[in-house]
Amino acid sequence: MLMCELNRISSHFLFLATNGMDLGAISMILYGWRERDLVLQFFEKTSGLRMNHNYIRPGGVAADLPDGWRDDLAHLLDAFPSRLEEYDNLMTGQPIWQGRTQGVGVITPEEALALGATGPILRSTGTPWDLRKDTPYLAYDQVEFDVVVGSYGDVFDRYAIRLNEIRESMRIVAQILDLMPAGDYRVQDKKVTPPPRARIDESMEALIHHFKIFTEGFRVPEGEVYVAVESPRGSWAATSSPTAAPSPTACTSGARPSSTCRPCPTCCGAASSPTQSPSSPRWTPSWARWTDEPPERRQRGSGPHHRRALPRSRSALIPLLHVAQEQDGWVSPEAMSHIAELLDLTSAEVLGTASFYGMFKREPVGRYVVSVCTNISCLLVGGEELLEHCEERLGVKAGATTADGVFTLEDVECIAACTDAPCLQVNYRYFLNVTHDEVDGLLDDLAAGRRDDDIPPHGTLTRVRQQVPAERWSGHGAEGLPVSPGGPR
Ligand code: FES
Repeated sequence: MLMCELNRISSHFLFLATNGMDLGAISMILYGWRERDLVLQFFEKTSGLRMNHNYIRPGGVAADLPDGWRDDLAHLLDAFPSRLEEYDNLMTGQPIWQGRTQGVGVITPEEALALGATGPILRSTGTPWDLRKDTPYLAYDQVEFDVVVGSYGDVFDRYAIRLNEIRESMRIVAQILDLMPAGDYRVQDKKVTPPPRARIDESMEALIHHFKIFTEGFRVPEGEVYVAVESPRGSWAATSSPTAAPSPTACTSGARPSSTCRPCPTCCGAASSPTQSPSSPRWTPSWARWTDEPPERRQRGSGPHHRRALPRSRSALIPLLHVAQEQDGWVSPEAMSHIAELLDLTSAEVLGTASFYGMFKREPVGRYVVSVCTNISCLLVGGEELLEHCEERLGVKAGATTADGVFTLEDVECIAACTDAPCLQVNYRYFLNVTHDEVDGLLDDLAAGRRDDDIPPHGTLTRVRQQVPAERWSGHGAEGLPVSPGGPR
């Protein structure tokens, strides 16, 4: 239990370090790594390894705690509180951090449960599911700690939960210092735990026990069993089930952390995956538009030719998301479920990819998606004023769609045209060095349907062919040869 809580602290420090860096809090990569290393040093002293220490074994642990372990832990418990305060100052109240995490990646409790999410991701939605409290194991029922939950289900909550779970784990570690019992560190059942190394040299019986444990393992009680623990990233479970001789039992283990699992009755109470629900509405793809699959095979759900042509079915995921968007104008939950089924992926894997790429819209959008860049190069030359101008002109804020369903306005990160800032895209078609007057003219033309020929409705990305100005390719190709697959057509 001590090692499990230290591991939670180490894992959450890793989260703070790497996610801090990814979101612009560069110092966090150094601080998080520094603090985590104190924990890893303790692991090394205890088990001989910093990571993958294989310390917890059936019947106990691999070795006793090292001399001075109480002093080492006291040092950790002394060092961390002030540093956690620093992280609070560095990130929690910091406007840039808040801006990049609050309201971002929001999931509801229902969505989290449907995805089989556990751990901090589920708790961020306000669901107080923690196996240490709900089905206590080890000695968790003998220590005091709180289950930290969020309210909004966003990235900020998931960050704040991990930060505060470090504090709760420290509370537990402090209690373990008082509660740690004296005695052996593993059961003395020689059919389960190996004998001490020295005994093998002097006892034939010890040698036989050692040999049988390391060659055959040991017998577990008959029947099927599923046991889960609360790992730092969510439920982590081991299953043992009967198999045929010579190995009468098969054991598997794995995490159900956040986005990689399907719902199961044990971790979230859901009865089946949304992709398997017979009552869920089915999205019917228009395969006929782009596949040579004969209709009778299509109806059997054998999948599009993209799938057959690719070595890994997963490679068809992005093309299929494009197809879904082309068909409906957005990528609906039904489409994602159907794609998951076609490619034998979890719905969470499909959602993970669809939500990673801003080009896939997971809400219905207008006929024209106007994407205004407000990243640094554009910001310096009026990107933000351009966005405000569009908001005023269209009467909606960024992220919203006009009442007539013609325009969706969005504020985007760099669209890779920085040398021609300020710039925007309409349905992924570029408009560079734009002035407010030019934007007004463009919006008028779009509203009146005067640009239908060169700007098709949103979702028809695969039909958009934009001429790249020749000067942009100068020097990139020999004269008379095609300059690039993406060059002038
Ligand atoms: S910053 Fe706007 S296009 Fe790069």
